[in-house]
Amino acid sequence: MALKQGYDRTVITLPSLGIVLKFSNIHIILFVKQISRIVAEGMWKYLWHYFSWPAEYRGGARGRLVRGILANIGEFTFYQSTKNPFLVPTYFTLGIVNIQKYCNTIEMDEMSFARQMSQFMGDDIFSDSHHFIEQQNFTYDGNRLRIIDYGLKKGHKAIAKHGKHIMENFDPTKVF
Ligand SMILES: Nc1ncnc2c1ncn2[C@@H]1O[C@H](COP(=O)(O)OP(=O)(O)OP(=O)(O)O)[C@@H](O)[C@H]1O
Ligand SMILES: [Mg+2]
Repeated sequence: MALKQGYDRTVITLPSLGIVLKFSNIHIILFVKQISRIVAEGMWKYLWHYFSWPAEYRGGARGRLVRGILANIGEFTFYQSTKNPFLVPTYFTLGIVNIQKYCNTIEMDEMSFARQMSQFMGDDIFSDSHHFIEQQNFTYDGNRLRIIDYGLKKGHKAIAKHGKHIMENFDPTKVF
C-alpha cells in the first residue's frame, strides 16, 4: 500500500487487491487565498472571471474546487463508454472517489519517453498541456503502454485518435 499525490487526485494503491482508490482533491486553501486577495485588492471585475473559468482549468474557482471530481467522473464515463484498450480500466465512481485497476509505473529516461510520445502524437501532444509527456500518467505491463490518468475531456480526442497506435507501437527500450 502506498500514497501517491497528483494535483487532482490523491491515490491509495492496494496492489494486493489489484486496485487503487483515487480521491478527488479540493484545493480549498488556494481557493480562499485567491478570494481574499481579490477582496483585499478590490479587484471586483476579476471576481467574475475567477468564477466563470471552466472547471477544467486549474486556476479558476471551479477548477480549485471540483476539478478532481470532474476528472474522476470523466475517467469512469470515458472508460465505460469506449472500453478503449489503451485506457486502464476504471471500475467504479462516486465522484469523490474512483476505483481503478492497479498498475506498475514506468521507469525510463524522461526525454526518451517524451520524444517517443511526440513522434506518435505530433501537435496533438499539446492538446492537454504537458499531460502526454509525463510518464507517471502511463503504465507499461511488459507488453503494452496504457494510460492511467485520462479524466479530463480536453485529452479525450487525442486519446481516441492515437491511443491504439501508441499502445501497439511504444517501445520502452528505445533511447533517443
Ligand atoms: N491505476 C493506478 N495504478 C498505480 N498507480 C496509480 C494509478 N493511478 C494513479 N496512480 C499513481 O497516482 C499518481 C496520481 O494519479 P493521477 O495521475 O491519475 O492523478 P492526477 O491528480 O489526475 O494527476 P496530475 O497531477 O497529473 O493531474 C500517478 O502519477 C501514479 O503514480
Ligand atoms: Mg497524473
